[in-house]
Amino acid sequence: MSRTPMTPDQLRDADRARIIHPYLPGSVTERVVMTGGSGCRLTDVDGRKYLDATGGLWLAQIGHGREEVARAAYEQMAKLEYFTSFWEFSNDRAIELATKLTAIAPEGLGHVYFTSGGSEGNEAAIKMARYYHHRRGDANRTWILARDKAYHGIGYGGGSATGFPVYHEGFAPMMPHVSHLTPPWPYRSELYHGQDPTDFLIAELEQRIAEIGPGNIAAMIGEPIMGVGGMLVPPADYWPRVREVLDRHGILLILDEVVTAYGRVGKWFAAQHFGVTPDIIVTAKGITSGYIPLGALLVGDHVAEQLLADFGFPMGYTYNGHPVAAAVALENLDIIEREGLLARATETGALLHRELQAQLGDLPVVGEIRSVGMMLAVELVADRATREPLPMLQPLLPDVIRRETGVIVRDCAHSLVLSPALIMTEGEAKEAVAAMRQVLERVQPNGELRD
Ligand SMILES: Cc1ncc(COP(=O)(O)O)c(C=O)c1O
Repeated sequence: MSRTPMTPDQLRDADRARIIHPYLPGSVTERVVMTGGSGCRLTDVDGRKYLDATGGLWLAQIGHGREEVARAAYEQMAKLEYFTSFWEFSNDRAIELATKLTAIAPEGLGHVYFTSGGSEGNEAAIKMARYYHHRRGDANRTWILARDKAYHGIGYGGGSATGFPVYHEGFAPMMPHVSHLTPPWPYRSELYHGQDPTDFLIAELEQRIAEIGPGNIAAMIGEPIMGVGGMLVPPADYWPRVREVLDRHGILLILDEVVTAYGRVGKWFAAQHFGVTPDIIVTAKGITSGYIPLGALLVGDHVAEQLLADFGFPMGYTYNGHPVAAAVALENLDIIEREGLLARATETGALLHRELQAQLGDLPVVGEIRSVGMMLAVELVADRATREPLPMLQPLLPDVIRRETGVIVRDCAHSLVLSPALIMTEGEAKEAVAAMRQVLERVQPNGELRD
């Protein structure tokens, strides 16, 4: 049966009538219907071009439209499109991918558990942490430590660990036994009452552990750099000192690297950037650059030993170890390696940072510019002296920037954030920053935009 192509207007009408988009109220009628992508460029159904400075939702490591990835998927589909990885069943691509992942992972993370995305990954990690202790006869260790402004996806466990009330309201009650700590956000020095941020945060962590009781805590979960929180970069000593405290109390460390893994920060994993070895790393997004849904947990050998005991780990997703997703991931990781994208992320990230500083650093609404590799944020303030957050008015600044310039950026917690493909060129980096300047130089301290 052949399908008649829909016109642009029919597509927009059908979208408005049929699709429930995440975070989009029905009152918003605008639709941007993408139909093509190549490198950092996107094309919509009307033929308008965009510069994708966010890599979709913070992935697209290798850029859009890579034919070699499409070929890898085609070849795998033609050979074996799917079979389960439950029980003793496996497939050659999933095995090759697990071998590759453990080769690039920090020492000691020698096992892999596959998922289809980040939220599933965090559910699995939280369950693994609890199950690890349960298997060792420590069944009271159920509590999960997280941080305010964390984002760990939308599952029950990960969603509860997420540290924004807006993700909890209306879904209550959330998972019990989750406790939120202060986030590392040095620019907001008021959070630390005049103390060194890490000293404050470590003292708070010790105190919280004492209150809950170390024998009741399974794990702490955290994004190495908090993405949705506004690309919050912790002080260099934060993660090593957190690790030391957790080790002392037998608490596992789960790093949610759904955004930071696979070159985003210039290393395979942000754990390697911060010099810390967690017990579990949760990854997704950049593992396939978004070409197909996939996630993978890198699991410490000591944790895996408990999961593999007796009858094994009693949870699995239908698409665990999906052969087509694994084939795509292998090709994606090969491209990252072949094209030197880890080094390129560091270089282009530094260029973007310099450019942001040069073009935006003098604007009264720009409070702080921060970055690691290709994760960058411009925190917006009403007043640079008081650091009062800039009011976020409609239309939102990313919408204005997109409509005026075709450059796609995103706002997160009073920051404009960039996370482009690691292949972004110097010209594209400059174009993205110039677009931000064009709009930000007209923003008033009350959030309004001058014509
Ligand atoms: C740090 C982090 N964890 C988990 C998730 C959820 O991943 P997914 O949307 O693939 O379920 C995200 C998504 O942005 C994320 O940023």
